[in-house]
Amino acid sequence: MSLKQTWVWLLLSFVGSATQDKTPDTHVTCVVAEDCVLPCAFQPSSNNLVRWFRQEALVLSFLSADSTEEEEEEEEEEDDDEGSDEDTEEDGEEQPGLEHGQRYDDRASVIPELVARGNATLVLKGCGPKDRGRYRCHVRTATGAHESHVLVKVEAPLRSLNMELSRLSGFEEIKCSTRHVYPAPHVTWETDPPASHHLRPITRKLADKQTGMYVVESRVRRLRNHPEITYVCKVTSSYGMQSWTASLRERAEISGPERRDISIPCHAPPHLRDPFLSWTFTHGQDPAHILAYDPYSRLSTVSPPWEGHIKMDTYRVPLGDGTLRLLDPDHDQHTGVYTCTYSAPYNTHTEETEVTISHVAEKHSSWEPSHWWIVALVITLLVIALAAMLTYLKVKGSFSTTRKQPEQPTEMHSVKVSTPEEMIPGESSPLTGPESGGETTHTPSKDA
Ligand SMILES: *[C@@H]1O[C@H](CO)[C@@H](O)[C@H](O)[C@H]1NC(C)=O
Repeated sequence: MSLKQTWVWLLLSFVGSATQDKTPDTHVTCVVAEDCVLPCAFQPSSNNLVRWFRQEALVLSFLSADSTEEEEEEEEEEDDDEGSDEDTEEDGEEQPGLEHGQRYDDRASVIPELVARGNATLVLKGCGPKDRGRYRCHVRTATGAHESHVLVKVEAPLRSLNMELSRLSGFEEIKCSTRHVYPAPHVTWETDPPASHHLRPITRKLADKQTGMYVVESRVRRLRNHPEITYVCKVTSSYGMQSWTASLRERAEISGPERRDISIPCHAPPHLRDPFLSWTFTHGQDPAHILAYDPYSRLSTVSPPWEGHIKMDTYRVPLGDGTLRLLDPDHDQHTGVYTCTYSAPYNTHTEETEVTISHVAEKHSSWEPSHWWIVALVITLLVIALAAMLTYLKVKGSFSTTRKQPEQPTEMHSVKVSTPEEMIPGESSPLTGPESGGETTHTPSKDA
């Protein structure tokens, strides 16, 4: 290449790039895990060679079956100002068909039938954050060339926003969290009534190493001197296209005796339209599901353990009143935190109520009978023991006299005959029994 030729080439390149830059970039925002469609329209002819680049690295090249290499070679030199792709491009031109760049496989495609009609749209299947960037669509035909740029943004929109009052590790804080979001969103807090200057939010945004998706968690310390306050957490996507709001109201504690029905209030904020409603119960660790209400079918479903223990007026729920009535409550089963959550797209509202069911009334009826039973049992056992002892003694006494009878039949006989008065105390007392027997031997001899 002579000096003159080089100057002409540089000039042509400059003019070429200047005219190309006149076409503004097309902006495309793709949703993570969905297909990303990058438009590229051109004037179709024969020998269409389509090449897509991302940040000047080849994504794919597609050559129509009717092309001839020689014609294309010259035009390409003229249009292309990037030397780095030259090698790969030339390799790709050898045969008609589809070829992929290093990092791309079947994920990237153009539709051959559409290319013939001047549509070189690139489809990236299941896109992710790594697909962001500026893409270049370069098409060479038998009659001319086309170049256009597409600026691709990738977004994983917010699908949900959770808010909870966490009582773990001694700290009482309100936690607002979301996951699987890209790029990292902005988080702001406020309260109703306003006291947000007391809130010092701590927000963490962690990206997953493999997917690039963010987990966002923001916490504020619970304000102790503000009963019945509502905390509001607002999360806005960094492109500012959508924002989600979650609010949490801490309601005053409720307590009541066992077996007496109790009402746990829950009211939807007026701006929520047709929200879903769910009630959960927490006592210790995992929250247990109580009830779910569907605004479209206007039906509620109750979890089996709670059937017969709760009641909710489904006619009042569309009016914003989701109050739960606890029937025949039990201290052990029903003392805990009751949470109701209204959820609609972009909005959730949660209310928490701590409920204490006291079992004062049951103390008298359950403990005292068992106490008297013990007393009664002890007395009964004592009486039985005493009776048994007396019976034993009586039996033993009579047995000892009958045992001696065969040994001294004549003496006993003579005693009974001679002194019946003295024999009565002798029989009843085991100690005097044998002695009286001894005495009796004397009596007849004295008589004799
Ligand atoms: C090109 O093809 C794509 C994919 O089928 C389609 O979505 C798009 O509307 C087409 N563009 C034009 C200009 O026909």
